[in-house]
Amino acid sequence: MRSFYLVLLATSLLYGLESWELKEGSGKALVKVACTQCHNERTITPNRGDREDWKAIINLMYSYGLPKLTPEKKKIILNYLSVNYNNTIFLRRKPIHSQWDKINF
Ligand code: HEC
Repeated sequence: MRSFYLVLLATSLLYGLESWELKEGSGKALVKVACTQCHNERTITPNRGDREDWKAIINLMYSYGLPKLTPEKKKIILNYLSVNYNNTIFLRRKPIHSQWDKINF
């Protein structure tokens, strides 16, 4: 029983410590400028996905009114998101593609 409480404590600490702010990393500043005009970082950071998943997200954001990104900027943003918010890293919710598969764009 004691180990159960220890696991519970460790898990809640892990969840509590995970910040919703954008992680430090190359490209962060650009993501902040391009992606927090309509919603804050909290909408982005609980998501996980590979490059293709994040590409689909950017296309979805275009449909919401995200101004067209230059290919260079899009590449930097995709690099940042697929490295820092990849679906192989500690999961908090289902990877994006498990939901996108069910949506017909
Ligand atoms: C023109 C406004 C706008 C911009 C700019 C924008 N978004 Fe969004 N985004 C939205 C709207 C609207 C939603 C839907 C919010 C909701 O479902 O409550 C959303 C939702 C999201 C979600 C959650 C999707 C889900 O259902 O899991 C993610 C992730 C996301 N945006 C990422 C981004 C990223 C990355 C960028 C920058 C490339 C970006 N957004 C820029 C409007 C925008």
